[in-house]
Amino acid sequence: MAGVFARRIVVVGAGYVGLTTAACLASLGHQVVCADVDEAKLAGLAAGQVDNSEPGLSELVVEGLHSGRLTFVLGTEAALSRLPAEPSGRPAEPSRLPAAPSGRPAAEVIFLCLPTPMGIGGVADLSVVESVVTGIGPLLAPGAVVVTKSTVPVGTAARISELLGREDVAVVSNPEFLREGSAVSDFLGPDRIVIGADSQDAAERVSALYSRLGAPTVFTNPASAELIKYAANCYLAMKLSYVNAVAELCERVGAEISDVTEGIGYDRRIGQAFLSPGPGWGGSCLPKDAAALLQVADAHDFEFRLLRAAIDTNTRQRQRMVDKVRLAVTGRRTGSLSNTRLCLLGLTFKAGTDDLRDSPALGVAALLRQAGAELYAYDPGVDADRWAAGSEGRAAISVVDDPYIAAKDCDAVVVLTEWPQFRALDWTRMAEEVRRPVVVDTRNLLDRDTLGRAGFHWIGVGSG
Ligand code: UGA
Repeated sequence: MAGVFARRIVVVGAGYVGLTTAACLASLGHQVVCADVDEAKLAGLAAGQVDNSEPGLSELVVEGLHSGRLTFVLGTEAALSRLPAEPSGRPAEPSRLPAAPSGRPAAEVIFLCLPTPMGIGGVADLSVVESVVTGIGPLLAPGAVVVTKSTVPVGTAARISELLGREDVAVVSNPEFLREGSAVSDFLGPDRIVIGADSQDAAERVSALYSRLGAPTVFTNPASAELIKYAANCYLAMKLSYVNAVAELCERVGAEISDVTEGIGYDRRIGQAFLSPGPGWGGSCLPKDAAALLQVADAHDFEFRLLRAAIDTNTRQRQRMVDKVRLAVTGRRTGSLSNTRLCLLGLTFKAGTDDLRDSPALGVAALLRQAGAELYAYDPGVDADRWAAGSEGRAAISVVDDPYIAAKDCDAVVVLTEWPQFRALDWTRMAEEVRRPVVVDTRNLLDRDTLGRAGFHWIGVGSG
């Protein structure tokens, strides 16, 4: 496997992007060291335990450990000073990793997969990236290439070059397009690979890492590559806000959103993907990147009205879902939700993940709580005990590990995340548990005939 193209790589950061990058690059035959600052996490990884639920990731990590092509190490400096010349064949605990013998081959490519959270006013916070880069400058081997995978504002590659202070080290922007829940398949079967570099040699070296994937590759300058990432996520966000707005129109004109999206989706210029209406888009990426791009536009005196409208539509969408619940429960648009009890199905930002960051479900829940409703929730990805032990605001929702308990005596069931498991619930039993058999399905997930047979009144999104 380790043919002529195999490279010695350090991946900085073992989050879902970093770990996926490290494990997938190792599976492509490269020699990869993955560094992080979380000692407990690294110890688990070195023993083959992956603490996120990305399908296929655990298997790739174990495969990499056993082949010796993937190792984990505490701290970036340590990673840059040690790379196993020969596969060890066995996983090693980070704390027991041998010290670097002199003359060991150095890393040729260093991937930065670090968090860039939303800072004040929506500006991306680059402090982690900057502190790592400042530290590694003197440690890099002559001619090394530093690659940014994290989503970073336009101009960051240039800033990293400055901070590195190394004329001989090229900085390449190679953004990731990994969705949570399908990160491994997105990495190994990408729609495209984007490589932004000022140096042709560095661009070719980075693109060669992926040569086995045979994906279309866009070569450009670093600023364009950085913008491609934001432009892609913000386009997806705008597409969803557009669909949610069309769904609202459907309700007013007596149209059916599923037919409308099917009808427009056959147009290859539009496509069927990313056309499901819902309670709004969320997660750790789309809202953060939309806010950041708006900031970039503002900073360059460009009023990006289209994007602002997409964000406003998204904020409004959450309130719209609350209005639906209000109407469903009280029969009036202005009815009070005080003294009502609601069963929420789903809290995560989408199905197939345990990620609650910027979840539209939580946004809708917070508004329902503000309106006076008592909230009980069930989510297949959220453990009730861990939830109860969690931080502030959590007391507002009682999470239980059983959907039928969550439904007990409720005035409406509100579906907020599109977990397929909800379709398979025993809806006749659910009808026996609830006080009023009403379902507000913000994801249009459930089969309305099945619900009707069970005695439920189903209310979806975008049904006229
Ligand atoms: C998103 C992008 O899809 C990835 O390409 C990108 O690499 C990633 O961000 C990132 O920047 O790292 P992700 O945050 O995992 O991936 O989530 P998505 O699958 O894009 O979903 C985002 C939100 O849109 C979720 O709340 C989801 O429920 C919602 N959504 C998605 C809909 O409401 N309808 C749809 O049809 C699709």
